[in-house]
Amino acid sequence: MKRKILVTSALPYANGDIHLGHMIEHIQTDIWVRFQKMRGHECYYVCADDTHGTPVMLAAEKQGKTPEALITEMNARHQQDFAGFLTHYDNYYTTHSPENKKFSSDIFNRLQENNKIAKKTIKQLFDPEKEMFLPDRFVKGECPKCHAQDQYGDNCEVCGGTYSSSELINPYSTVSGATPIFKETEHFFFKLSECNEFLRDWVAGEDTLVDGSKKPHLQTQALNKMKEWLEGDLQDWDITRDAPYFGFEIPNAPGKYFYVWLDAPIGYMASFLNLCERIGIDFDDYFKVDSQTELHHFIGKDILYFHALFWPAVLKYSAYRQPTAVYAHGFLTVDGQKMSKSRGTFITAKSYLDEGLNPEWMRYYIAAKLNSKIEDIDLNLQDFIARVNSDLVGKYINIAARASGFIQKRFDGCILDVSSSKLVQDLQQESDEIAQKYENREYASVVKKVMALGDKVNAYVDQNKPWELAKIEGQTERLHEVCSELIHAFKLLTIYLAPILPKIAQEVTQFLNLDSLSWEDIHRPFENLKINAYQHMIHRVEAKQVDRLIERNKQSIQNNANSVEVKSSENDFKPECSFDDFTKVDMRVAKVLKCEKVEGSSKLLKFQLDLGNGIEKTIFSGIAASYKHPEELVGRMVIAVVNFAPRKMAKFGVSEGMILSAAGENQLFLLDVDSGAQAGMSVG
Ligand code: 2FM
Ligand code: ZN
Repeated sequence: MKRKILVTSALPYANGDIHLGHMIEHIQTDIWVRFQKMRGHECYYVCADDTHGTPVMLAAEKQGKTPEALITEMNARHQQDFAGFLTHYDNYYTTHSPENKKFSSDIFNRLQENNKIAKKTIKQLFDPEKEMFLPDRFVKGECPKCHAQDQYGDNCEVCGGTYSSSELINPYSTVSGATPIFKETEHFFFKLSECNEFLRDWVAGEDTLVDGSKKPHLQTQALNKMKEWLEGDLQDWDITRDAPYFGFEIPNAPGKYFYVWLDAPIGYMASFLNLCERIGIDFDDYFKVDSQTELHHFIGKDILYFHALFWPAVLKYSAYRQPTAVYAHGFLTVDGQKMSKSRGTFITAKSYLDEGLNPEWMRYYIAAKLNSKIEDIDLNLQDFIARVNSDLVGKYINIAARASGFIQKRFDGCILDVSSSKLVQDLQQESDEIAQKYENREYASVVKKVMALGDKVNAYVDQNKPWELAKIEGQTERLHEVCSELIHAFKLLTIYLAPILPKIAQEVTQFLNLDSLSWEDIHRPFENLKINAYQHMIHRVEAKQVDRLIERNKQSIQNNANSVEVKSSENDFKPECSFDDFTKVDMRVAKVLKCEKVEGSSKLLKFQLDLGNGIEKTIFSGIAASYKHPEELVGRMVIAVVNFAPRKMAKFGVSEGMILSAAGENQLFLLDVDSGAQAGMSVG
């Protein structure tokens, strides 16, 4: 019974690089999709970049680009990283697409027609300097509970407390440093509070597939979590953001935009529609209510709420089908700990590939760890090396290496039909069980089973000792038989591992002179088969490669943290400037005589500078967020521009110049001068 299946992975944000945390999900999904395709089902895998929102807008601004330019660049980078790890999408698109814009508006209109949209006036933190409303993650201040400094607007990383941003002490905007104010604004809400009954049924429900099998919508653990949430009242969901915002403007509401989380999952539909129009698939067949096709979402456990509550409810009340199933996975840890930039374990996909590590090592290792539960997955680096070397190279690839030499040298590459061999039949017998495990996303169990079969084949080699048979006269026939069995067994193991190791599977297909390897080939005999010369398909991992990978990630992070310039390319440099222009700027070494906070401004510090020869100047500098203890700056040397026209700083006073600092992503760094320099010396 041929199934029609649409599969997605969560859409990666366009403001960051792909790292191994993303890869576990995309590899998990890709394995499932490859398996379905091998089984002969009609299966499509779509994804896209999640491009909207304040972080993308601000990141673009900081890099001096338009958001459109930034997301185009990132999309290319993301696709390159994914291709490097052999995850294959039928379509990899963007949420900033005409299809997505249309779907988002249509869905909003349908929700409105179904009386599921409310308008409410709310109060939100507003940055008066930048003139924008601030999402919680762009407001920091002192935790009202434990008084730790620099905590986010809604939760404290030190004591774990949650609170509303109005409770934060001395809040400041991380965008401009200004003290935010509360301002009223009118927002559209999706009435999730009216969806409780529908959601209670949906989360506990299941779908019956065309083959009669059943799929629960959620994993047990996820279902329990959702039930907890559904016990209380659901809050209506704010789907509006005010300009300036990078996203889609809401129809008939100028200056109001859809919140990124509204249009992101709709991006699944948009990416699929784009594919449908390109290759001629009937979109409605997949999205109409009561569709007989399947829709599966693979996601991380942190975004379950969006996929198990908001998304099915939005689909329901805009008259589309709901997902067949949502599968959440846990987080990736490295050596038992959260991925860390300073330890070098926040490993980017690109660094892994650039360091020359084989993507199939990682695919294999991740598969060996994944199951259908929402458990965190640990990448233990020693275990990674050991497993890849002992399983992939030692147990699996070696079988081909051990048998093919004799086949080539003694039998001109010809393989006997050994379909009736016990070894071959033992391996074939496991196919249904392995298929069931793949279907249920029990990949660790697949790997365990296949490696046990690998052990069996290797034991057969040791029992039959082809290298001895080769020396005994009259045993040529037996040698031919044993080696043919080994090659046949190798073919079966390859089919079993093909969803995990697609590149090796392709190389084996060529080695065996076959057209393709699908699940049906498990029971197909070898007829008049002549194989090609064996070439080694996978090497061992060396510990030093892994060490270098960790080192590389440490370095790249250090560079990023310290300066925007390090990250920028020459294209980001300002236009040419003449030497004469440059010499107009009078820069001097200055000694800090006094430095203090400025009352009423969370951004400014007030400096009193000594410029030599008894000259002093007062300069205000917007670096308060980076220097929490201004008194500690007294006595140090800084570099100041001293020939700007005096500038009035709101109510605070007049600034007589500018102090130079390097701009990092979230921090400023004062410029230094070697010891020996004196106040008043000119710089140039
Ligand atoms: O959490 C994230 O990384 C989001 N960008 C995922 C979006 S998934 C879907 F809803 F688009
Ligand atoms: Zn706290």
